[in-house]
Amino acid sequence: MFQRMPDFNQDTICSSQGYQKDLEVFLFSNENVAGYLDNFDLGGKIILSVGASGDHMFECYARGAKHVDTFDINYRQKPIIELKNHMIKNVPYEDFLKFFFTKEYFFDPQIIKPIMPLFSSSLRMFMDLYYSMGNAGRKMFAYHGRLDHMAHYDNKYYSDAARYDRLASKLPQNISFKHLDITGVSANFTRKYDFIMLSNIFDFQHSEISDGCRALNQFYKGTLGELARNNLRADGGIILLEYMWGNNASTRDQMWDAWQKFATKQNSKTHATGHKMDNCFVKPMMGSKRYDNVLYMTQNQKIK
Ligand SMILES: C[S@@+](CC[C@H](N)C(=O)[O-])C[C@H]1O[C@@H](n2cnc3c(N)ncnc32)[C@H](O)[C@@H]1O
Repeated sequence: MFQRMPDFNQDTICSSQGYQKDLEVFLFSNENVAGYLDNFDLGGKIILSVGASGDHMFECYARGAKHVDTFDINYRQKPIIELKNHMIKNVPYEDFLKFFFTKEYFFDPQIIKPIMPLFSSSLRMFMDLYYSMGNAGRKMFAYHGRLDHMAHYDNKYYSDAARYDRLASKLPQNISFKHLDITGVSANFTRKYDFIMLSNIFDFQHSEISDGCRALNQFYKGTLGELARNNLRADGGIILLEYMWGNNASTRDQMWDAWQKFATKQNSKTHATGHKMDNCFVKPMMGSKRYDNVLYMTQNQKIK
């Protein structure tokens, strides 16, 4: 039994100030991932995504992505993504729902017993750790694994049996995951991606800068530029750079205004890294007037 997991990837680069290493584990996304991915054509695409709960990856494969590489500063996201990958491919839909979404069968070992031989050593260690902790195991998870208040988010791959089964046939045998801080991505991934998905990592970067526009500039200079140059397909590659929670609920005040200011400035001049900015509006969440947004940048060949 392990109380702490070893660091599985000695190459880990953790330079981020905003996010610590021993982090709570996301079992499912708290973003409206399906809501914003519906705005993009992911069929046949090569994608780099933050790992998190794996939901970004699963939604990409559900939309026909050809390959998805993932990275995350939190090494415990790897076993979760692997577990879900094995389950979707091998465990009936009803059991998947029971395992994650019911009190009675939450993480019931009987449900995953038949697929345990498929588990990697890191996944086995993670499960050992969880079961050794008894009720306290839930504290490892964001929201203590209580997922009922996520029901209003409409991530789609597990919303019905047919979708779940269709996804099973599209998933790879093994997931691709690297334990990395975002600033280590360029040095550790060599592909050119059609899409790079960064969730809301930006919220935790440059937390010392309260002004949204300045923080975006810093993120652009320090992180996005390098990603775009080294890892993004030159003709039309897209970085989904920030999932922004409801307009007024963003970490930084007036974030939407800051984005507009920033995007206007970047679009109106020839920029060394050549990006065109745009924004997209996703559907309302929580039944109120709040809207979430995903900010994205497109490679702009014209100004190269
Ligand atoms: C930004 S968090 C927020 C959760 C997210 N909204 C979701 O639905 O999964 C998403 C993931 O980003 C990872 N993360 C945060 N900062 C990071 C960084 N600097 N580099 C790499 N991954 C990071 C976290 O460990 C987490 O798994």
